[in-house]
Amino acid sequence: MESARAIKQVVRRAENQEWVHELTNVIEDNVVVGAYEKLGRAQWPIRNILHGSFMGHPLHATVSDIPTGAWATAMVLDTAEVAFGKKGLGPGADAAIAFGLVGASAASVSGWADWKHTKGSTQRTGLLHGLINSAATGMYLTSLILRKAGARGAGQIVSTLGFGLTIAGSYLGGELVFDRMVAVNRAEPPAEPEEFTPIASADDFTENEPYRFEVNDVPVVVIKSHGQFYALSDICSHLGRPLSGGEVDNGCITCPAHSSTFKLENGAVVTGPAAYPQPTFETRVNEGYLEIRTHHVYD
Ligand code: FES
Repeated sequence: MESARAIKQVVRRAENQEWVHELTNVIEDNVVVGAYEKLGRAQWPIRNILHGSFMGHPLHATVSDIPTGAWATAMVLDTAEVAFGKKGLGPGADAAIAFGLVGASAASVSGWADWKHTKGSTQRTGLLHGLINSAATGMYLTSLILRKAGARGAGQIVSTLGFGLTIAGSYLGGELVFDRMVAVNRAEPPAEPEEFTPIASADDFTENEPYRFEVNDVPVVVIKSHGQFYALSDICSHLGRPLSGGEVDNGCITCPAHSSTFKLENGAVVTGPAAYPQPTFETRVNEGYLEIRTHHVYD
């Protein structure tokens, strides 16, 4: 549709502005990386929380609904207060704004953590998404201060403008997830091979060395560790890069792109930014050949 094309063009034009390029680099290098460096070793458990690795789902997607829902509630209560003169609704609207501010703080920190691992135009769209949402948060904070200072009407005008920004920020959030595939599981469980399929002689593997295979068009990384064979999807669940260039250590493989670490045994995330586990395959050695199949077949 023409309207969709026009909106996309506005986004492309905005993300290609010179200042957006420059600010992206400044924020990534000085703010996000700088914060991680200050945290030192403590950054790792914190990052696992911010990326949602601990719960198998991106934290940002969960908490970002809080400000949107809370501020929509405030909008309805404000409208009812003004339209029907129901003054008793005011405290409810103020409480919803305050609750939204708490959720916006969590959404902001987790969002910037996820943003750091994006690149190019996706990262610049992510920057615009973050800036718009930060501006919306600032407006809601201002609105709350005005309301508490007795300037209720002004506070309601500012929060209405903030709600417009929230909608714009949500649009860009949807663009990032649905168009750019940020924070989605890139490694859906493969449907193939359903039957045990030989892929190589079992003698051809060196311990703790990742090997990449295409099995029925499915990219697979195979590792022999302590005499056992492990096979995982070679598409990293985080942003889809190949795992096979990674390092194997202590029963885990670390993705070379952004250092997500997965257990060889079951693909569980040990360290983010990945939030989703890595699909694994069953393995067996049959007549000297390593064979693999998906976990979807039941004998
Ligand atoms: S693609 Fe980001 S950690 Fe693998």
